[in-house]
Amino acid sequence: MPDTAKVGLIGAGFIGESHARAIRMMPVVFSGARPHPVPHMLAENSEDLAMRRASQLGFARGVADWRSVVDECDAIVIAVPSHLHFEIARAAIEQGKAVLCEKPVGLSSLEATDLADAVRAARVPNAVGFTYMRAPLVRHAVALVRNGALGRPLHFRGWHCEDYLADATAPFTWRLDPDLAGRTGALGDLGWHILSIARAFCGQIVALSGSVQTYHAQRPLPDDRTAFRTVGNEDWAGMTLSFESGAHGLIECSRIAHGRKMDIGFELVCENGTVAFHGERMNEIKIYRAGDGSMKSGFETIHCSADHPDYAAFIPAPGHGLGFHDLKVIEMRDFMGAIAEKRGADPDLNQAARIARICEAVLRSHEIGEQISTPEERAE
Ligand SMILES: NC(=O)c1ccc[n+]([C@@H]2O[C@H](COP(=O)([O-])OP(=O)(O)OC[C@H]3O[C@@H](n4cnc5c(N)ncnc54)[C@H](O)[C@@H]3O)[C@@H](O)[C@H]2O)c1
Repeated sequence: MPDTAKVGLIGAGFIGESHARAIRMMPVVFSGARPHPVPHMLAENSEDLAMRRASQLGFARGVADWRSVVDECDAIVIAVPSHLHFEIARAAIEQGKAVLCEKPVGLSSLEATDLADAVRAARVPNAVGFTYMRAPLVRHAVALVRNGALGRPLHFRGWHCEDYLADATAPFTWRLDPDLAGRTGALGDLGWHILSIARAFCGQIVALSGSVQTYHAQRPLPDDRTAFRTVGNEDWAGMTLSFESGAHGLIECSRIAHGRKMDIGFELVCENGTVAFHGERMNEIKIYRAGDGSMKSGFETIHCSADHPDYAAFIPAPGHGLGFHDLKVIEMRDFMGAIAEKRGADPDLNQAARIARICEAVLRSHEIGEQISTPEERAE
């Protein structure tokens, strides 16, 4: 296996910049892991912008045509708005190029499922931008629960709430347009993350009931604040879940939650204890163990340390903390590991297709006012 992989980054906006940092940092932080990603080409939507971003972010070349990136690189990071995911990922997979696609993958579950089928058939390495699954303490908690340390999971309460669209006068963006972002709004943007964590703890979802709301149905145009456009997807979604394991869950996501900046979190109640995580304090986790007796009864706070997954690669000292970009470095290491072993990372496009179907089932449940069975399975 080659020691390096030439990486092409398509889209250098908010999350593309984080991927660019991760490509450069991964060989420093995880020096023993192979292959090392090399920032080779970057595509943006104009030649000027692409060359400027390539120079700022350390890529050898910047181009306006993403197709040449797919042709000339070994591994493709797709960080553009969702309506472009499918075409780019399809082109890369057809050439056998490894793909790391941002969530929500494509515009619909049909697109996500097609990509999952294509990587499986052609055995193409792949990964998906489930950023928070990479948090050391989320991985620690998942391992703890899977090892049975707290007993069987009973109920999961999860949320991902932010306030980036809480201001009702905030202008229309591509995220509110179903043709560019897909039919799901808060679900596609935020729900994907907390659903990936819920599934890691409790397994496959076998039934759900969902509800969605668009509170700010009209938004001003960015270049003419007196003109308005109708918002095409939801601001808020809530769902109740039944898992195959027998556990149950509640999930909420909102892009209009005043005061909540990066509030992804969960409380998982198990037979013998509870584990709780709040993303705005991602370097600590709280664990309650039943049976400690009333003198010691209460949640204990565990701070991130070298014993937790991946933390020591960044810093040996406990409690100093990792940040958002560090999670992308871990994700890049996982992507390179998938390339080394010619497989999907965990989570991969197959899991993404399942989550896409779950989100669409939430919309369907809202529309028909009924519970949906086997939401992860493909329609007949
Ligand atoms: N995993 C995460 O934590 C996370 C966080 C934010 C966004 N995302 C996802 O990442 C994707 C991008 O979101 P963002 O917030 O970075 O958006 P953004 O609008 O900040 O950036 C998108 C970039 O893509 C560029 N672009 C558009 N068309 C292009 C083309 N044809 N060729 C090359 N570049 C093109 C734009 O110029 C822009 O710079 C979305 O799917 C989003 O849901 C994931």
